[in-house]
Amino acid sequence: MKKVGLLGCGAIGTQIALAIDSGKIPAMLTHVYDESKDASSKLVEKLTNKPVIVENPHLLSSNPIDIVIEAASQDAVKDVALSVLQNKKDLMIMSVGALLDESVYEILSDACKDFKKTIYLPSGAIAGLDGIKSVKNELESLSITTTKHPRSLKGAKFFENSEIDLDSLDSETVIFQGNAKEAVSLFPANINVAALLSLTGIGSEKTKVKIIADPNTDKNTHHIEASGNFGKMTFTIENFPDPNNPKTSRLATLSAIETLRKYCSDEIQIGT
Ligand SMILES: NC(=O)c1ccc[n+]([C@@H]2O[C@H](COP(=O)([O-])OP(=O)(O)OC[C@H]3O[C@@H](n4cnc5c(N)ncnc54)[C@H](O)[C@@H]3O)[C@@H](O)[C@H]2O)c1
Repeated sequence: MKKVGLLGCGAIGTQIALAIDSGKIPAMLTHVYDESKDASSKLVEKLTNKPVIVENPHLLSSNPIDIVIEAASQDAVKDVALSVLQNKKDLMIMSVGALLDESVYEILSDACKDFKKTIYLPSGAIAGLDGIKSVKNELESLSITTTKHPRSLKGAKFFENSEIDLDSLDSETVIFQGNAKEAVSLFPANINVAALLSLTGIGSEKTKVKIIADPNTDKNTHHIEASGNFGKMTFTIENFPDPNNPKTSRLATLSAIETLRKYCSDEIQIGT
């Protein structure tokens, strides 16, 4: 059975841990870390098979595990990802925005080759990445429009220099238009899907992003359009937010669980 270390015990990390504990994922969760001791203790209390809480994130991969699951933050990826690969462990990253920093991407990509380890990026809160991956060399345009309730956008860096008052919106309002690189730096916890899409497709400078705040929606909706020599693809995904974190969609958690389940299972692999 594969052994798993978990970095980040919030909304996504907790659901992954529960999926392992209930046997849905055939693995053992042996070590966990969260910068909030409260978060890691609360998680461990919920589990029947209790993992060890390590004192710092580097101790996850110095233990005999197979994979570290990052479900924490972009900073956590920057701090820990390289040492996980150097310790010859695989890594799954949820805070994908961290990889839009070209130097981070290059260092980690080289480390995968040097240490013969793999980084897994689940499809997160979107669908259709299998198709976009297949046509990436024929893509001419790629865009994503994300619509969320204003409360799901609160706290983003973008609002430090904006006059938009999210609390006073009474109808759909375009908050941001630009490329994926700008979107990820201004909305680091809200728009990982734009990072994923651009890494799959034509890069972060060519991937167009529009963010809309809608006080009358209860969903996180992503509309993706891709076109090129192959034809055209459109995908619309209407996600319910995770009850424990409105910034995170339920699908993001489920896609992380499915990616790890697949990693831990010997079976026929479906999809590109
Ligand atoms: N790929 C996707 O589609 C997608 C979708 C949703 C969320 N995410 C990202 O996944 C990550 C986790 O999401 P979540 O909903 O579980 O968030 P959350 O806020 O519910 O939980 C994050 C946990 O990580 C801990 N943490 C934060 N920074 C840390 C660090 N440097 N070291 C150790 N612990 C740290 C926090 O204390 C918290 O307990 C976020 O970065 C989020 O932006 C990605």
